Amino acid sequence: MNSNPSFQEQSTRPLKSSGVGLPWHVAIIMDGNGRWAKKRLLNRVKGHERGMNTVREIVTASREMGIGILTLYAFSTENWQRPKYEVSALMNILRRFLKSEQTEMTKNNIRLNVIGQPDRLSANVQKVLFETLELTADNSGMVLNLALSYGGRNDITQMVRTIAQKIITGKIDVEAIDEQLIADHLYTAKLADPDLVIRTSGEMRISNFLLWQIAYSELFITNTLWPDFGKAEFIQILHDYEHRERRFGKV
Ligand code: IPE
Ligand code: IPE
Ligand code: MG
Repeated sequence: MNSNPSFQEQSTRPLKSSGVGLPWHVAIIMDGNGRWAKKRLLNRVKGHERGMNTVREIVTASREMGIGILTLYAFSTENWQRPKYEVSALMNILRRFLKSEQTEMTKNNIRLNVIGQPDRLSANVQKVLFETLELTADNSGMVLNLALSYGGRNDITQMVRTIAQKIITGKIDVEAIDEQLIADHLYTAKLADPDLVIRTSGEMRISNFLLWQIAYSELFITNTLWPDFGKAEFIQILHDYEHRERRFGKV
């Protein structure tokens, strides 16, 4: 799916933004839609609908700022356990979002990528998803990477299965297993690791988001609920990141 050269180029962090500077890959745990609605005595679904506006604003801001990859945690493997009506409302919002953003993504040279289990999504969501992936496949301005039915443990599990299968069929030797090979078999293969992980709504946890990939990511947790989050705060966080010292275990 990700074999064209433009994708390879944009997936590789340019040397100038390693360390300080703008983060190349920003990953966001978009949390707090339910609490936003509850505060207003509204149905949780209203919170998800407002959250979609924030998604639009942050995608546009990221593109303007020159972010290379924006990963959005939209639906976790655990989120399937929510009430049926909420799951189907979320799927409906996702479908509407993809449909409505096709023109905008084309205009802004944004390439869509998906990590997780898109095959678990309903047929009508898959249809517009694969349509958008195809439509934006040659875009090279930014990768919008959506985590859909994504779980870090599922990611690692499928990686182990794929590598085990390759060993059984003699495609690779056990000795060939190293960190690069593992990274190449995760859903995020070809995408640079996140430089910065932002979580809205104040929870101090990772909630089965990228596990392997965030080994050395900088973390930023804001109390702002996702529907209240916006460009101004996003830019503030990017500036905070610019002043951090990333050591990677060295002195
Ligand atoms: C994030 O908001 C959206 C998804 C997880 C799909 P929540 O729905 O988790 O909102 P809270 O945490 O209940 O406030
Ligand atoms: C994390 O939020 C998942 C997404 C943002 C898609 P949750 O609301 O599902 O996480 P927990 O339940 O608070 O850990
Ligand atoms: Mg939540």
